[in-house]
Formats: sequence, structure tokens, C-alpha cells
Amino acid sequence: MALRIGFIVGSLRQHSYNRALIAAAGEVASEDVTFVEIGGIRDLPAYDEDLDAGDPPPAARRLREAIGAVDALLIATPEYNSGIPGALKNALDWASRPFGATQIVGKPAAVVGASTSAFGAAWAQADLRKVLTASGARVMEGDLPVTKAAERFDSEGTLIDDEIRERLTAYVATFIEFVRTPPEDDW
Ligand code: FNR
Repeated sequence: MALRIGFIVGSLRQHSYNRALIAAAGEVASEDVTFVEIGGIRDLPAYDEDLDAGDPPPAARRLREAIGAVDALLIATPEYNSGIPGALKNALDWASRPFGATQIVGKPAAVVGASTSAFGAAWAQADLRKVLTASGARVMEGDLPVTKAAERFDSEGTLIDDEIRERLTAYVATFIEFVRTPPEDDW
């Protein structure tokens, strides 16, 4: 069965390592899986319940529709001060409303992350899993920390580390299996 995986890059930076990591994930995924970007997180206003009381802002509507149009979410997060970047958290806050009745509820999701430090955005990924779980997504166990990102990608953003590529290949395959295996309640 063909799958559409929506990806969100938590960095706004043009030459983001997290964007490069998602591109590599798309390359190692099986051929019947399409990766589509859920972009526009830069265009979202800071979350405000007053703004969300009637018709939501267009960027928020687009985000919610884009999440509704995919089978699963793969999110790549940088780590800012031991947590997820504000722009990504803001996007997830918009995606999480109306509470309990959004497209994100029950959506299979997984996280990956790259940072230039020796910890590979591990705290940010833990944070992200917590936020996704609170929003009602069906979050896969585990993470994929890419440490010392500046050494793992070349200047074009190509993943040049064989060990990370192997781990990423296994992680993406596990995620695809996870997406294809509905929770027991659905049987
Ligand atoms: C960072 N960085 C960082 N790295 C890390 O491992 N732990 C951290 O807590 C932080 N904190 C942090 C705060 C701020 C404000 C910035 C701008 C950066 C470094 C970060 O990992 C690095 O800039 C990555 O390259 C960001 O990911 P992208 O943009 O390459 O995807």
C-alpha cells in the first residue's frame, strides 16, 4: 500500500542539517512511500486562542489540512537550549487544536534530530515526543540522534556517514511498519 509521509523540518535555516536529514530519510525509504513537506511554519502567527476562536489564520488552516492529507508525520528537530525550537512548538500548538478533534489525533508520528553537539538533539527529540503525545498523535518509540552534524553531511547537504545512513534506513523501515500496523483498538 502506498503511503504519504508528511515531514516537518523544525529549523528555518536554509542549510539546515535537519532538512538534510529528512532528505536522506526520503532517499532510504521504500519506493511506495512518498515524502511530502508540510511547510509554512515560518508563516504561522504566535498561537493565540483569540485568533483561533473563529476562522483560523490561513497558515494555520493550511497546516491542519496538510496534516489531514498525509498518513503519518516525520518531524526533524534541531535542539535549541535543550528543547525544541519555538517555531516548531508553535506549529504543533496550532496543529493540536481544536483539542481532541484535530487531524493530528491518532496520526502515526516519529521524530529524528540533528545537532552540532555530541548529543544529537536528544533532549529536543524527547521533548517533541512528549508534545506529540500530548496532542494525541500515535508516537513511535525511540529517536534518531545525529550528533556532530557538521561532520555527517557535506557542503551540499548529502549524508556522508555510512553508520548514520544504516541507522536511518532501519529507523525509517521500522516507522513505515509502525504506520502500517494499526493499534489493536482499530481491529
Ligand atoms: C543551538 N544549538 C544547540 N545544539 C545542541 O545540541 N543543544 C542545544 O541546546 C543547542 N542550543 C542552541 C540554541 C540556539 C538558539 C541555536 C541557534 C543553536 C546548536 C544547533 O544544534 C545547531 O545550530 C544546529 O545546526 C541546528 O540545526 P539546523 O538548523 O542545522 O537544522
